[in-house]
Amino acid sequence: MKPLKHLPAWKTLEQHFKDMRAFDMRSAFREDAHRFEHLSLRCGNLLLDYSKNRVTPDTMRHLMQLARESDLEGMRNAMFSGERINFTERRAVLHTALRAPVRPPLVVEGMDVEREVAAVLKRMQRFVESIHNGSWRGHTGKPIRDVVNIGIGGSDLGPAMVCAALDHYALESVRVHFVSNLDPAHLAGTLKQLDPETTLFIVASKTFTTLETLANANSAKAWLLAALRAPAAVARHFVALSTNAQAVEAFGIDPDNMFIFWDWVGGRYSLWSAIGLSIALQIGWGNFQALLAGAHAMDIHFKEAPLEVNMPAILGMLGIWYANFWGTDTYGVFPYDQRLRLLVPFLQQLDMESNGKNVNRDNKLVNYNTGPILWGAPGTNGQHAFFELVHQGTRLIPTDFLVAAVNPTPLADQHEWLLANCLAQTEALLKGKSRAVIEAELIAQGMSRETAKALAPHKVFPGNRPSNTLLYQKLDPHTLGMLLALYEHKVFVQGVIWQINSFDQWGVELGKQLAPPIRAALSSVRAIGEHDGSTLGLITDIRRRRGLST
Ligand code: F6P
Repeated sequence: MKPLKHLPAWKTLEQHFKDMRAFDMRSAFREDAHRFEHLSLRCGNLLLDYSKNRVTPDTMRHLMQLARESDLEGMRNAMFSGERINFTERRAVLHTALRAPVRPPLVVEGMDVEREVAAVLKRMQRFVESIHNGSWRGHTGKPIRDVVNIGIGGSDLGPAMVCAALDHYALESVRVHFVSNLDPAHLAGTLKQLDPETTLFIVASKTFTTLETLANANSAKAWLLAALRAPAAVARHFVALSTNAQAVEAFGIDPDNMFIFWDWVGGRYSLWSAIGLSIALQIGWGNFQALLAGAHAMDIHFKEAPLEVNMPAILGMLGIWYANFWGTDTYGVFPYDQRLRLLVPFLQQLDMESNGKNVNRDNKLVNYNTGPILWGAPGTNGQHAFFELVHQGTRLIPTDFLVAAVNPTPLADQHEWLLANCLAQTEALLKGKSRAVIEAELIAQGMSRETAKALAPHKVFPGNRPSNTLLYQKLDPHTLGMLLALYEHKVFVQGVIWQINSFDQWGVELGKQLAPPIRAALSSVRAIGEHDGSTLGLITDIRRRRGLST
């Protein structure tokens, strides 16, 4: 594999960047009345406006050339056709197969993926309907009213985010809760609101070995058994979502109550699989199908649209432009949509667990920056917290703004203000406000020339700061599916350019390995073992606070 920095398009971009250093978007808009049309794209009801970026049509051409030289199209086809592109775990990457409604048979290593997916979906549908129509009863014969998804990472963030995003589609018959943290406060706070007779626990874990999930599931089981006093109750109040049938059975969950998925579904890409059971329980089977259909529509777009008019490719390559040429370290995501309040934590796992890597596909350390630090919060809250830094700070921060054109709420006037604020922020980032204008304004307000001169620099907005706007009609299941698949593919595009494996996560292992000996050291002096000075100091302090010998 040719190293990234040796690719001709990389060299061209390095040269082009030198020419672009002084580029001012404001002049570009003045010079090209059609800049918006040239640098925006529609897919379904999604509009991506990327005209407020430090790019010219030439930049985009060079970026797409880099994508081609990086064999983005080949890698994309390899993913869709089930090649083992997750080479460090020797796995295919087929979350796209989970949401393809009518598929040509896709046989991967002897497995008819299409049939297996359909069979699990059918079982999920039957189960969801039995909860909704009350034919599934708890141990004491009462219908289920509350569902608790116990999982963490991809087995929590995706379904929790979707359930928050689509709470306006929630059915009244069940309430869905999410418990993830090992901190017992999370489970205890949730159980306080629940009646064991009418509660169903979904234990969601791809591996079924995750400490947090098993600890919470065991505590939930103890809570249930303490109340219902019959081991048989577990079968009516626990179901599992996993790839590990053996461990599910060992935990005591009836294999009939297990919904499987496969090792070719990465945890952070799993909300489309059985891991989405809580979503279907909240919004109903039809809406879950619409979510999958939206994602599939984006899959088709990503697979078939030429790179120049391919939304994930454009978003991904813009990220490369900023991270690798402008040297940006972070990337802000601001959904002007309260329902998308969990989007940023979801995207943090998607992006940072996928592309937070420093070794390439040739097993060599990379010599360029990979995945950015993704952060953000819903608008308008962010405006009153950290937008100061986005507008006036010393760092350049590429940003995505997401907003619905309409909002099915009776408080339409508030949505109008929300929308206006979203557009105003991107306009302010672009336009800025000059010292001369500010001084003139202050003087016109009656301030002395001298005071105005001193104050004006503090009020300057440099402007020329980049943003993408993703505008959608309204937040419905289909649109959300499109948006999420867009980000998944964007992350894929960047991983291909950086020549890394976006689908493993070895970087989460070390902390997991170090925790058990530390736990033992907290209570047994014989187990203190070898630690660095800082960790030893902390262990000793904790032991002292507990009155244990040190
Ligand atoms: O520790 C990270 C991780 O492995 C994630 O990749 C995953 O989504 C999460 O833990 C939960 O894993 P599981 O679904 O196997 O419990």
